[in-house]
Amino acid sequence: MSQNIVYKTAKTAKKAFMNIRKLLIDRRHDPEPILGSDYSCSFPSQYIIEPGNICNLKCPFCVNGMERKDSHPNRGFLGLNEFKVLLNKISPYARRIYFYNWGEPFLNKNIHSMVRLAVDRGIETYISSNLSLTELNYKAIIESGLTSLVVSIDGACQETYGKYRVGGDYQLVLHNLAGLVEAKKRLNKATPNIYWQFLTNKFNEHDVEKAKETAKSLEVSIYFNKMTVLDESWEATALDASTVHEYFNGSDPTLYRGAERTLPLFLKDVVFHPDLLNLCKQIINMMTINWDGGVFPCCSVYNKGAVIGNLIDQSLDEVWNSETFKKCRKYIYNYGGDQEKSPVCGTMPCFANSDHPLVKNRRKLMQ
Ligand SMILES: C[S@@+](CC[C@H](N)C(=O)[O-])C[C@H]1O[C@@H](n2cnc3c(N)ncnc32)[C@H](O)[C@@H]1O
Ligand code: SF4
Ligand code: SF4
Repeated sequence: MSQNIVYKTAKTAKKAFMNIRKLLIDRRHDPEPILGSDYSCSFPSQYIIEPGNICNLKCPFCVNGMERKDSHPNRGFLGLNEFKVLLNKISPYARRIYFYNWGEPFLNKNIHSMVRLAVDRGIETYISSNLSLTELNYKAIIESGLTSLVVSIDGACQETYGKYRVGGDYQLVLHNLAGLVEAKKRLNKATPNIYWQFLTNKFNEHDVEKAKETAKSLEVSIYFNKMTVLDESWEATALDASTVHEYFNGSDPTLYRGAERTLPLFLKDVVFHPDLLNLCKQIINMMTINWDGGVFPCCSVYNKGAVIGNLIDQSLDEVWNSETFKKCRKYIYNYGGDQEKSPVCGTMPCFANSDHPLVKNRRKLMQ
C-alpha cells in the first residue's frame, strides 16, 4: 500500500471515530445531572476554563475595572501543558468548554491550540471577547474550529461604547469583526458563529437601532441584554423582549439555562435557597476552572476564599465531590433548618447572597 492510501485510510477512520464519539457524547450528556442523597453529583458536561484573568480593558463593573480588594490575587495565563492535564481529566465527560471568565481570552498566546485540542475531542467551544486588540490572527481563530464567538460591543459609537468598555477602541473592534467575517468567507468555513452582544445601560440604550443597522451591514447577528450595574445612575430601562437573544431563540448554550425548581433529587422535603439563581445551578452542571487550576463553585465568584480544590493537582472526583462542594449543593438545594452554612456558598459576597440593593433588584427580575 502506498503511503498516500495509508494516510487517507487513517484519516477516514479518524473522522468516523470522531463522529461516533460525538454521538456517544451527545447521548451521554443529555440527561439532567444526577444528585445523590449525600449531595455528590454526576460529572458536569459543561466547563468554564479561564485562559487568563488579565485584560486590556477596564470595564467599571468587571473585576478588572473595579480592582476589588477581594479579587483573586494571582493573575496569569493558563499554560498549554496545564491545559492538556485539565483536558485529559474532563474530556470523557465534557460537551462544552467556555474559554472565558474574568479576562480577555485572546491575550493567551496558546488559545488557538487549546481550542483545537478540545475540538479534536468532539467538544463544543465558546469564547467571549472584547476584540479591541491590535494583534488578532483571524485565520488562526477560524481554523481552530471554535464553535461560537461572542463579541462584547456595548454601544454604536466610541462615546457610548467607551463609557463601559474603558480603554476600548470602537473602530478597531469593528475592523476586527469585519476581518473575521471576511476571513470566514475566504476560508469557506461555517464556524465560528459570530454574535455581537450589546449590553444596555443608561448611556448606550438609545444606540440599539443604530447597532442593529451596523451589525446588519457587517453581516453579523446581534442580540441585546441588560447590563448588570452596581450604580443606579447606570440602570437601563427595561428591554423590549423581542430584542433579547433575538438570534439565539433561547436555544444557544452560551446562555445559562434557568434553574428550574425541579431537580432529579432523590431527597425528601427539599427546600430551595430563597435566592436560587440560574447561576447556582452551575453547582450541579458546570465546573469553573481558573487559569491556575483552582475550581470555583460558579462563574460569579473569583476571590481566593472561593476556591474549592485544584483540578491540575487533584482528580475530577476529588474536587467535584469534595465535602465543600457537597456542602455548597446542600446549602443551595436543601436550604435552612439546622444545616451548616457552606464555607463558600452562603458566606461569599456573591450574586445569590449579596445585599446590594441593585443586585437584589436584578435577582428578583431573574427569578
Ligand atoms: C468578564 S467577560 C470576559 C470575556 C471578555 N473579556 C469580554 O468582555 O467579552 C465575560 C462576559 O461578561 C460580560 N459582561 C461584562 N460586564 C458585564 C456586566 N456589567 N453585566 C453583564 N455582563 C457583563 C462580557 O460582555 C462577557 O460576555
Ligand atoms: S473586556 Fe471583559 S474581562 Fe475585560 S474588563 Fe471588560 S468585561 Fe472584564
Ligand atoms: S450561592 Fe453564590 S457562590 Fe454559590 S453557586 Fe450561587 S452564586 Fe455561586
